[in-house]
Amino acid sequence: MNVIICKNYEEMSQKAADIVVQQVTQKINSVLGLATGSTPLGLYQKLVKAYHDKDISFKDVTTYNLDEYMGLDVSHPQSYHQFMYKHLFSQIDIDLSNTHLPKNDHHHMQECAKAYHKLLSKTAIDLQILGIGSNGHIGFNEPGTPFGNEVFIVELDEQTRNDNKRFFNHIDEVPTHAITMGIKNIMRSKHILLLASGIEKSESIYHMIKGPVTENLPASILQLHPNVTVIIDEKAASKYLENA
Ligand code: F6R
Repeated sequence: MNVIICKNYEEMSQKAADIVVQQVTQKINSVLGLATGSTPLGLYQKLVKAYHDKDISFKDVTTYNLDEYMGLDVSHPQSYHQFMYKHLFSQIDIDLSNTHLPKNDHHHMQECAKAYHKLLSKTAIDLQILGIGSNGHIGFNEPGTPFGNEVFIVELDEQTRNDNKRFFNHIDEVPTHAITMGIKNIMRSKHILLLASGIEKSESIYHMIKGPVTENLPASILQLHPNVTVIIDEKAASKYLENA
């Protein structure tokens, strides 16, 4: 793991954007794996700026998102479909037909999982962006999820629902289930870029880098991937630095 520690969120986002720009410059038809949540927002703003500055074009880029809530209409403002459209896709020159998120029809959950898995198995992700949960999840692979899982339907941890309730009016509105790439899908990516900021991530970052590889801390599997870049701010790095 290549661990890069930055002063703050701004620097983390810029360094991550530089890596994405470099990836797409080297291979204009790159396949990117994308995450949602608060962490990559700064990165996406920097990518929009890089597009306006003509430093990058997404014309030939294809994207696959990690996950989507189950049972939330894709038109719901908190759906990941809307998140990606609002924060990235609507602001760059990407062909929307090259952007993919898992479908989330809760009447046909297993079919949705199978279809997304089939789609992913036809491609190879060049660069996968990841955030990390305060419980060590990546995608929505919650603690205890088998490392062998491919796209599947997950029941969200109480901790995850609590962490995400800030996006909703009330905890009861936070979906209980999601569809997510499994660890196996994520580990197939050629390069993984994991971002984290803030003290509430310091515990999971420490265990991800220094702890045993265990399904109880899903991100720890990344220790076994040959090409992982971790970009974190000083707060997220604090426990790791204390114990380095
Ligand atoms: C989102 C995702 C999640 C988030 C994680 C951190 O697509 O897969 O693993 O990356 O929950 O979320 P934030 O960035 O909101 O702290």
